[in-house]
Amino acid sequence: MAIPPNSPKNEMMSRPIVKPEVLDYMRHGQRRLSGLLGNLESDAQARNIPIIPHETVVFMQFLLGQLKPKEILEVGSAVGFSASLMSEIVKDAKITTIDRFDVMIKQAKANFKKLNVEDKITLLEGEAEDILKTLPSAQYDFVFMDSAKSKYIIFLPEILRVMKAGAVLMVDDVFQGGTIVQDVSQIPRGKRAIHRGLKRFLDTVLNHPELTSTLVPLGDGLILITKEAIDVNLSAEA
Ligand SMILES: C[S@@+](CC[C@H](N)C(=O)[O-])C[C@H]1O[C@@H](n2cnc3c(N)ncnc32)[C@H](O)[C@@H]1O
Repeated sequence: MAIPPNSPKNEMMSRPIVKPEVLDYMRHGQRRLSGLLGNLESDAQARNIPIIPHETVVFMQFLLGQLKPKEILEVGSAVGFSASLMSEIVKDAKITTIDRFDVMIKQAKANFKKLNVEDKITLLEGEAEDILKTLPSAQYDFVFMDSAKSKYIIFLPEILRVMKAGAVLMVDDVFQGGTIVQDVSQIPRGKRAIHRGLKRFLDTVLNHPELTSTLVPLGDGLILITKEAIDVNLSAEA
């Protein structure tokens, strides 16, 4: 099943936050993926499956190539593209990915099999809010959050708990086509929950004394966050 063209990620792809000609240069001037992973990327794009855009692929190759995380957690597998990409970048990493949508889960499993990464990637099926609670503390070196945007703030305490001290959390789609800077009254009613949730998430992480964050204008905006301490008290004042 294809994702409808008006899904949030596809909407973002058509309202980029950098100049279209620069975006085109970033997407097409940079090395394409080869082999089965390249086929998976182009097939997902052709079917409007909301996978990470190519400039984010290149960024991940650089970042994970440097960090070399051993244990990776992903929230939002879709068809398994970004999980397979991470597995290709860090050959010896153990990856856990979560999704709740049976249509995506089925395709992700088939893709992991096709790419021969089944033994390196574990797909946990269900609502991330429930699954996160079952994961061990201080387990992961790198977390990629790419799921329901309004829930990032709800997932945050559990995500921080499962991260090792010094681990990196990368979160996708935080600019919402640039509308994140607008007042909520300017946001269409149907999108206000996402807007409010993301704003709370960004305010929390950007102002927290035990978290270090940087916003990166790639795709629809990434934020990278690292925690300095094992336990981060989210109610701490900035
Ligand atoms: C943008 S897609 C992930 C794309 C993938 N990371 C990639 O780039 O290849 C988001 C996925 O998150 C899943 N998702 C959204 N909210 C979720 C939740 N609360 N719990 C589990 N999965 C969720 C959706 O079913 C969807 O497949």
